[in-house]
Amino acid sequence: MTHTLIYPHTSTHNAAGHLEIGGCDVVDLARAFGTPLFVYDEQALRDQCRAYHAAFGARTDLYEIVYASKAFSCRAMAELVAQEDLSIDVATGGELAAALAGRFPPERIYFHGNNKSAAEIEAGLDAGIGHFVVDSFEEIDRLEAAAAARGRAQDVLVRVTPGVRPDTHDFVRTGQQDSKFGFGLADGSAHEAVRRLLDAPHLRLHGVHAHIGSQIFALDAYRREVEVLFVAIDEWRRDFGFECGIVNIGGGLGIRYTPSDQPSSIAEFADVSVNAVRDGAARHHVPVPRLLVEPGRSIAGKAAVTVYTVGTVKVIPGLRTYVAVDGGMSDNLRPMLYESRYEAMLANKAEEPATDLVTVVGKHCESGDVLVRDVRIAPPEPGDILVTPGTGAYGYAMANNYNAQPRPAVILVGAGRAHVIIERETWDDVLRLQRPLAP
Ligand SMILES: Cc1ncc(COP(=O)(O)O)c(C=O)c1O
Repeated sequence: MTHTLIYPHTSTHNAAGHLEIGGCDVVDLARAFGTPLFVYDEQALRDQCRAYHAAFGARTDLYEIVYASKAFSCRAMAELVAQEDLSIDVATGGELAAALAGRFPPERIYFHGNNKSAAEIEAGLDAGIGHFVVDSFEEIDRLEAAAAARGRAQDVLVRVTPGVRPDTHDFVRTGQQDSKFGFGLADGSAHEAVRRLLDAPHLRLHGVHAHIGSQIFALDAYRREVEVLFVAIDEWRRDFGFECGIVNIGGGLGIRYTPSDQPSSIAEFADVSVNAVRDGAARHHVPVPRLLVEPGRSIAGKAAVTVYTVGTVKVIPGLRTYVAVDGGMSDNLRPMLYESRYEAMLANKAEEPATDLVTVVGKHCESGDVLVRDVRIAPPEPGDILVTPGTGAYGYAMANNYNAQPRPAVILVGAGRAHVIIERETWDDVLRLQRPLAP
């Protein structure tokens, strides 16, 4: 039976013995749309957005859920997130363009990035976005000048590194002092940044932002993060008379990729963070600020599966069986970047026992192009439809054209219907920007 802990919750096995998601037979989807294919369950996406509102809304009125669009950014996703009444964060001009194409209300957009270009700053200002999350001294100067040139004042948050280490992979830790992101609290640069922001005539500082990392299971790191932020908030009030109205603690709530993962729930995350902010405000005798969280993975991750076609099965007797699919590191970089673990199953043999221990690899010219190491699936054959669950976050978002491989299509399924939200690239698309040698 499909493990509903890691598949979208509408997943089931149908009468044909196939995996079904959102009322659609996955084998039929593979036939109709081709592979590799990202299949997002629309209801699962909406349910996660609603779970965030339910969890935080039950505990406080002073909150805002900001979808971190880097997890999965496209115009349809921006539309969906807007319909679910979330705000959105963007980290580049491209993500901003996707949000605006999805008619996302600009005043609910937060613009991140440790090296925003002049063009990105101007695009954000001209779109009338709600907040820039200021990350460097250079950005303070550039943003002040660009806002002044437009005769406007821009709302901002200041990004700091709180020096908190969560229990996650080194590459996705961001809150430590030694980080390319934000202003250090420990070395005084955050203090100096706040001073400069408050002095900038065309910038209005509303609060503080920090993000400690991603795929976090142990919630205590958030409590420590909030404690550290309140020490700074207290200092800024004392030194500058600044009343901090917003505390944005970033994203990072972990999800289950394999049955043995034990993530915390959204409700537990809400509990810890809402209480930490309340306690911090009480301890430092400041008004309770609005709490912002920026979930990406925990909204999009479990809502999608990637669908592949098996091309070759290489048995090395006594050693290993390699099952090669028609995608790989061009559509899922996470196993190579972070040693991430995934599960796999054959959608056309969903009812057959998973008897064979195999390693699922991609088609790229790298030995490291391993999608799932040592996983049990039904006996594989060329033509089988292989699915990896939990690929909704940082899957398509990190897709690339290595080996001139066109990027997959993305579809949204629900109530037995499927709808393309990102078209499949073609070889022509890959060639489109290429030019011949000069004559
Ligand atoms: C500033 C910021 N906010 C939010 C997120 C989202 O994190 P996650 O997808 O783990 O929730 C990230 C991820 O890197 C981030 O850098």
